[in-house]
Amino acid sequence: MTVPRINPERLLADLRFLRGIGAQGKGVVRPAFSAKDMEARRWLKQRYQEAGLEATIDGVGNVLGRSRHPGKALLVGSHSDTQPTGGWLDGALGVIYGLEVVRALTADSATRMLPVDAVSFQDEESRFVGCLGSRSLTGTLAPGVEQAAVDNSGVMLADALRDAGLAGVPRQRLARERYAGFVEAHIEQGPNLEDTGRKIGVVSSIVGLRGIRFVFRGQQNHAGTTMMDRRRDATTALYELAYRINQEFPKVAGERTVWTMGRLRVEPNATSIVPGYADLDLQFRDASEAPLDAFEKIVARLVAEINARGGVAIEATPARAPIPPTRMDAGLQEHIARAAERHAPGKWQHMPSGAFHDAGFISASLPSAMLFIPSIGGISHDFAEDSRDEDIVLGCQVLADAAASILAAANGGR
Ligand code: GLV
Ligand code: MN
Ligand code: MN
Repeated sequence: MTVPRINPERLLADLRFLRGIGAQGKGVVRPAFSAKDMEARRWLKQRYQEAGLEATIDGVGNVLGRSRHPGKALLVGSHSDTQPTGGWLDGALGVIYGLEVVRALTADSATRMLPVDAVSFQDEESRFVGCLGSRSLTGTLAPGVEQAAVDNSGVMLADALRDAGLAGVPRQRLARERYAGFVEAHIEQGPNLEDTGRKIGVVSSIVGLRGIRFVFRGQQNHAGTTMMDRRRDATTALYELAYRINQEFPKVAGERTVWTMGRLRVEPNATSIVPGYADLDLQFRDASEAPLDAFEKIVARLVAEINARGGVAIEATPARAPIPPTRMDAGLQEHIARAAERHAPGKWQHMPSGAFHDAGFISASLPSAMLFIPSIGGISHDFAEDSRDEDIVLGCQVLADAAASILAAANGGR
């Protein structure tokens, strides 16, 4: 079997160009539906067209490039929106890999007729709804979400869609029968590959995730005249609840269960005022539902206990649409593993993903798989996020090889 060769310079040049749209220092600020995000999507649409794809931006901002070739197609891509302060490769890597795989297969006479579609999903990073674009493509976006979803500054999704010029633009649905499957490449965003000296991760499962928002209501008052026994300090309840979560969760957590309290707000957030209001987001993840169920029960118990004392009232509500844990398709993993063994013999491994990804949602509709490359220092969701050029190039070569092999098998060895 011939292996299509990717063009490393072209791949790195496009990745760097995309980095420039919203660049801040070493990082990128390109949250979903921002002017920079939409600029990147228009640029990508043009790149897809130059690669011979029929390209559209749909009504939620997904950029989809469809191959004109007949036969079962492979969908390849990721997301091009970023965290509020994001790294340059999270999502962008898999998007530009998709483009490069299309170009590499087209340039080789043995693979030029194999149909590859490329995609950049919208709002994977949860400005409004995590994996909004893949939820929309698979028909699982909650009805009324345009009015219900607001970002951290209170902007409503409907208004962001309008300001991005997407009001009334048709939303695409994934045509299941068109595809042999979906493959998403991504940086690992953790230390595992670097620690083991391996170059490629073949993802076996993707974590599930749930979130709870706590609102704490007490009584705002003077910090000098209000004696401790009379206070109804919202943050005292917050600190206690957060501390007890950190005490109780490890008792039922699995080896890879994680939880984070990464956003909180205190009002009025002033040194000489006893705060009357606070809110806090708790997020927890695991590859199986059992510890997530157990965490919900612990939270309910702790909240009831603190509320029973009177003073500060805590209200707990789901903070986000839950993401179920998913397993990646065994057959597609096999193709990626064989390609990894050809290009990095002995230097690849199967591994779970602690980050969630659009592949989790697409897997409900299509056989799906993921490929990871190492992250330097295991750092991600930070401006410092980076990967070595040679690892970026190797990952794309493995993906191009795997894509050709998946498509050849799906189309009867063509
Ligand atoms: C996705 O970006 C995640 O937070 O796992
Ligand atoms: Mn990502
Ligand atoms: Mn991310």
